[in-house]
Amino acid sequence: MSQRLALHGGPPTRDTATNPWATTGNISGRDMGHEEIELLTEVIHSGMLFRYGGHMVSDFEREYGQFAGAKYCQAVTSGTAALHTAVAALQLEVGDEIITTNITDMGTVIGILMQNHIPIFADVDRRTMLIDPTQVEAAITDRTRAVIVVHLFGQPAPMDEIMRIAQEHNLYVIEDCAQSHGAKWDGHNVGTIGHIGCFSLQQSKQITTGDGGMVITNDDEVAARCRSFQDKCYDRSGAPRNPWHLGINYRMNELTGAVALAQTRKLPRLLQRRRRTAELLLHNVQQIEGIVPPYVYPQATHSWWKFSFQIDQELLGCTAQEFGQAIAAEGLPFGTGYAGGVPMCTYALFAQHHAYGSGHFPWEPPYGRMVEYKAEDYPETIWAQQNVFFASWNEGYTEEDVEDITRGLAKVAAYYRGM
Ligand SMILES: Cc1ncc(COP(=O)(O)O)c(C=O)c1O
Repeated sequence: MSQRLALHGGPPTRDTATNPWATTGNISGRDMGHEEIELLTEVIHSGMLFRYGGHMVSDFEREYGQFAGAKYCQAVTSGTAALHTAVAALQLEVGDEIITTNITDMGTVIGILMQNHIPIFADVDRRTMLIDPTQVEAAITDRTRAVIVVHLFGQPAPMDEIMRIAQEHNLYVIEDCAQSHGAKWDGHNVGTIGHIGCFSLQQSKQITTGDGGMVITNDDEVAARCRSFQDKCYDRSGAPRNPWHLGINYRMNELTGAVALAQTRKLPRLLQRRRRTAELLLHNVQQIEGIVPPYVYPQATHSWWKFSFQIDQELLGCTAQEFGQAIAAEGLPFGTGYAGGVPMCTYALFAQHHAYGSGHFPWEPPYGRMVEYKAEDYPETIWAQQNVFFASWNEGYTEEDVEDITRGLAKVAAYYRGM
């Protein structure tokens, strides 16, 4: 006989009031302490908080670049800034098109519009919520110049196919690695497979400075453009100031650099902890009838920013919504619907083509084209947003936490199987 669900008045699997989950919202789920304080103290005592007078940001760039296996690493102020810098470094024309995914953070798309390019969305693979290469190929026009792939939830997008398409159509590839520090595709570090990789250090990421980001590349020219763009196109070599192009100030300061450096040194250990518990849960959910484990590409080394799964709705005889309510009542930290739970193209900004003022620039001719963004063009995105469960994963999760999640999922699945 199955146990009484918490939803129906039974005892919850986990009482989160007395036993809360570790979270990146406070120190329970963050590895932060004397290493950061020591470097911060050094910065304060130096009196130099500007990166071009200190060494923390440049040390961080060197060490993160080494970690990521890239020749160049450029620190900036956020993941959004990193993506904007990357797009700007491509030096495309107004109205050129960039293809990206419909399930991501706005930070992926903001830089496209800031540089007056047109975002084009491709549908996803429902198994992973990652961009579907066949949909990328179908979206290519004579104005397409680049693809921004997002390695969502810590799993790399299928880079073999993406790179084949990019080469065939002469497109740049920017990898949005905001959620995937330390992930690999076929043994290659994310961010080094395409032309440029962009990372975020926002509060919820595998390592954090509250806000921060970086751009990595192996291309000398792209690296020089990124360096220049984030620093108002100033020249720091001592040459007379003479900006050659429009830049911006996305410079990271030494306080942020100090924390970023300390966090980078911890990253391998933090990733190990994430992987150990996530892989344990992956093993456990494979044993629960009615739970569909997350699909992990054989080529992927996942960095587990989130842990996702689906349910076999036919076998369980319930909807994702019903299952979701039951596991939430059990105290499990899973939900559906990433970043609003709808295809990104339905956000008012895109649907109404309102990027600047009341006009439709850069979509309207002669610059670009009035792309019609329609939710129904993205059936897989809609399905995934409604049916894929996910929880933020955390290096603070223990084997006991994994056990609680396993017990809760098994309990709810058994209840629905038995109905
Ligand atoms: C996939 C993705 N891209 C871009 C961003 C933007 O990063 P940030 O919040 O650091 O600007 C985020 C982070 O929220 C993200 O998850």
